[in-house]
Amino acid sequence: MNTPISASNPARTSEEASLAAQYQQILRNNDRGGYTVPSARLYPFQWNWDAAINAVGWQTFDEPRAWQEVELLLSGQWDNGLVPSIVFHKPADSYFPGPKEWGGSHLSPPTTSISQPPLLATMVRKMYERSRTGEADQHIRTIVPQLMAWHRWWYRDRDPENTGLVVSYHPWETGSDNSPAWDAALAAVPAATRAYQRRDTGVVDASMRPHKAEYDRFVYLLDFFRECKFDARKIYDECPLRIVDFALNAILLRANVDLAHLCDVLGLADEAQELRGWHARGCIAIDRLWSTPLGRHVSLDTRSGQRLEQKTHAAFLAWYGQVFTGDADTQKSAILLQHLDAHVDASLFSLTSTHPSEPGWDPRRYWRGAVWPHINWLVAEGLAECGHAAQAQRLRTDCLRLIQQSGPFEYFCPNTGEGLGGPDFSWTAAIALILFETQKTQQP
Ligand code: GLC
Repeated sequence: MNTPISASNPARTSEEASLAAQYQQILRNNDRGGYTVPSARLYPFQWNWDAAINAVGWQTFDEPRAWQEVELLLSGQWDNGLVPSIVFHKPADSYFPGPKEWGGSHLSPPTTSISQPPLLATMVRKMYERSRTGEADQHIRTIVPQLMAWHRWWYRDRDPENTGLVVSYHPWETGSDNSPAWDAALAAVPAATRAYQRRDTGVVDASMRPHKAEYDRFVYLLDFFRECKFDARKIYDECPLRIVDFALNAILLRANVDLAHLCDVLGLADEAQELRGWHARGCIAIDRLWSTPLGRHVSLDTRSGQRLEQKTHAAFLAWYGQVFTGDADTQKSAILLQHLDAHVDASLFSLTSTHPSEPGWDPRRYWRGAVWPHINWLVAEGLAECGHAAQAQRLRTDCLRLIQQSGPFEYFCPNTGEGLGGPDFSWTAAIALILFETQKTQQP
């Protein structure tokens, strides 16, 4: 186990240069010819929201490679617009479930049948604005229509009743795969009875990974999608798990705004209007997820009608999602800020994915209580944009400190700073590179 790390000691500039070189090398080592695997053995394919962040990381030192990351992810897009959670560009046997299990092995490239939080439009806008090579205009002409098709898929297939919010059918689609927020909804899902062989626990310690009872349900769901032949209406009507994830919806709402901006650049006025309409409607709908007793938005199980009231990181994506739009929201934002401070104060190192007071909290098991750099980065982005500079800075500093002192792991123990999960993790390295740049632009 790593020794607990100190609470100060930011890297000096020369150290920073050598660390930046190491982080760039991690992305290069995880490069499989135009796409980046999150971690060599644990996740040997291209993941959706990882790719979005990795692309921005690549752009800090190799812009053409950054655009390639996006293009290869989008090469897995389905005809109906879905951009899958995983694109299985090349076979690898260290991961379960693979393309056959998902029913996507006939596709070229093979993919899963669910998506992941739609960060991509926001990251592409960042790349467009940070571009130094003059190639961005050409790239967005191809990418923006693909993103538009993906956003239309969300609203057509995942909001067929026009509520303004989209549903997810698998915890893995939310990206927060094993969050205690999904426990109650997952308990209503039957367990798979067929035999299957997990691979994750052969790569990292089982104490960091989901329990068998959860995995049985994860597998049941992907078998269900395959058996439904991916019929969108049938899955909407019959899937035993159907949740409105606040975090995913906040990310989508934000992405609508950024994609609308890119449409403006390209003169796509109708598309821009459609996107702004989804954002406006979504902000009204998402307000109904506000819990006055908890002082935050919560997720919703649309099967049982129950609100999922666990205190997780998700609520703090409200600023990033630009969901506070009217005067009445100023007070909500102030309340949420107090909860953020209390949540951050509850651990030594920054914002944990689950508050330590929650019964399902576990500082080592993934998504049940550790610190995830990409979440802290996104929350900090939203805070900074909304004028909460001190809170944003605290998250950014803690995040960099963890990565610098423990190494670029998948996630970190909030009490000791120990790196957990997969080592040499791509989006963690990417975020460190991005944060180094943010620091530079903030220096007087
Ligand atoms: C885990 C995470 C998911 C991430 C993937 C690859 O499954 O829960 O959010 O995209 O790993 O890093």
